[in-house]
Amino acid sequence: MKPVKVGICGLGTVGGGTFNVLKRNAEEITRRAGRAIEVVQVATRALNPNCDTSDTLITDDVFTVVTNPEIDVVVELIGGYTIAKDLVLQAIENGKHVITANKALIAVHGNEIFAKAREKGVCVGFEAAVAGGIPVIKAIREGLAANRINWLAGIINGTGNFILSEMREKGRAFEDVLKEAQALGYAEADPTFDVEGIDAAHKLTILASIAFGIPLQFDKAYTEGITQLTTTDVNYAEKLGYRIKHLGVARRTEKGIELRVHPTLIPADRLIANVNGVMNAVMVNGDAIGDTLYYGAGAGMEPTASAVIADIIDVARVMEAEPEARVPYLAFQTDALSSLPILPITDCESAYYLRIQASDNPGVLAKVASIMSERGINIESIIQQEADEQEGKVPMILVTHRVTESRINDAIVALEALDSITGNVVRIRVEQLTN
Ligand code: HSE
Repeated sequence: MKPVKVGICGLGTVGGGTFNVLKRNAEEITRRAGRAIEVVQVATRALNPNCDTSDTLITDDVFTVVTNPEIDVVVELIGGYTIAKDLVLQAIENGKHVITANKALIAVHGNEIFAKAREKGVCVGFEAAVAGGIPVIKAIREGLAANRINWLAGIINGTGNFILSEMREKGRAFEDVLKEAQALGYAEADPTFDVEGIDAAHKLTILASIAFGIPLQFDKAYTEGITQLTTTDVNYAEKLGYRIKHLGVARRTEKGIELRVHPTLIPADRLIANVNGVMNAVMVNGDAIGDTLYYGAGAGMEPTASAVIADIIDVARVMEAEPEARVPYLAFQTDALSSLPILPITDCESAYYLRIQASDNPGVLAKVASIMSERGINIESIIQQEADEQEGKVPMILVTHRVTESRINDAIVALEALDSITGNVVRIRVEQLTN
């Protein structure tokens, strides 16, 4: 069979990894794909010193790749929403298959990109957009296709997990760990995307669409980062038998889909609570299979290249098949996508960890308990620490049962209005990750 001709746009961390692994494993890849995969052109503004591109046509204009008549598959690894979007849409217009690791692009413009790709009968692969090298899109889209997915929850930002792990295990400062993640090539060009949860929300948006068969709706995802977390809460969480992880949670409820990214206490004995460093993990619960867990490197040169190349191999196998015979982009047939709404965060349900600074006076605990019970909020556990000798304040930690966010917000307003409570109540969501 004729080789598949590939053009790579971007030769940075992921582009360089893709170029090298394609070369190194060419024989093994050909045996799998049934045909050779040849990189015929690379677009990059600067050569990557880790790649031997001496035999490869190099351009500094990405658009020459999408107009190159020789190229079957365009691999978009430049990132961002603007040039990348034009590049991908032009490639599709020119009848080229597209592989991308760009989660922002797919989460924000995926509906338009897939519509165009359907019209032109081309494939769009985006396995590398979520959880780096972990083949979680393939697992949900194909491996779990028999299931009604109930929920999924994932540690899907390696940089954030690396920061939280180093802070917890080594007591390192936030900024210091972030700098290391940037030097290692894990962090986004704008690292606020990592620490404010935007990158995780992009990935969660994609996962939710393929899990529940809904259009991509990044603008409706609730996003809260890790920048406000303190070691005080990390330590209290440990004492209560929990770990704090930055989780993306997507859950199907009768009223709609919960789509939320935020720091979360999870029981320390869950496998996912022990996923540390830059590693990612996604738990998916399906009605037939129950709980499943997908674990691996969520960022980095060759792990992400592994997912990019798996997509290229998939395209090589099916590019001559009828488009109807291919796996749908969002796992469900386009005319079968559901209009189930994404719920506002106030309608989402979770358990909560609350930390309160209370005066060391009689009756405070009773007042706190009555605010909770008046709102039907069940308290699962409560710890009262010894009073701070200088300030006379007592840290009080409550863990509630599941309740809607609007109800806990109402309770927090009432708690903060008490004379015997100082400052703001710290609120972190708690997930047991069971049905
Ligand atoms: N910045 C991302 C992360 C890279 O840290 O997970 C992989 O998407």
